[in-house]
Amino acid sequence: QVHRSFYDEVGGHETFEKLTSVFYREVAADEILRPMYPEEDLGPAERRLRMFLEQYWGGPRTYSEERGHPRLRMRHQPFTIGPIERDAWLRCMHTAIASIDDDTLDPPHRQALVDYMEMAAQSMVNSPF
Ligand code: HEM
Repeated sequence: QVHRSFYDEVGGHETFEKLTSVFYREVAADEILRPMYPEEDLGPAERRLRMFLEQYWGGPRTYSEERGHPRLRMRHQPFTIGPIERDAWLRCMHTAIASIDDDTLDPPHRQALVDYMEMAAQSMVNSPF
C-alpha cells in the first residue's frame, strides 16, 4: 500500500466505534454534559461524532455526505461551552482514548489523538465561563 491513513493505522472503523462508544457511555453518566444534549437518545450523536472523526483521520467521508461541511464551531453555537464543559468533554475523551489498547494505538498515535482532541475542544469554547 502506497499510503495508509491514520485511520487505517489505528485499526479503522472498529477503533473509532470503540472510541465513540466509550465516550458516549461517559457522557451519559456526566452531570455537566448529559443535560446539554437535546435528544434523549445519544445514539445519533454518537454516530455523528464517529463519522466526523473517521473522516477527519482519513477514513470514509460519510459524515460530509450526510451533513455537509463540518463547520463544527458554528454547529456548537447553540450550546454554552466554557472551560467547565470543555474539561468535562476532555475527561470523557481521555477515558475513551485510554480504553484503546497499546497494540491498536501505539504511543505516537495515542499522542497525536490526545493532542488533536485538546486542540479541538479548546477551539469549541464559546463562553468565558
Ligand atoms: C455535536 C457538545 C466538543 C464534534 C454536539 C452536540 C453537543 C456537543 C451538545 C449536539 C449533539 C448532536 O446532536 O450531535 C460538545 C461539547 C464540547 C464539544 C460540550 C466541549 C468542548 C466537540 C469536539 C468535537 C465535536 C472537540 C470534534 C472533535 C461534534 C460533532 C457533532 C457534535 C461532529 C455533530 C455535528 C452535526 O453534524 O450536527 N457537540 N461538543 N464536539 N459535536 Fe460536540
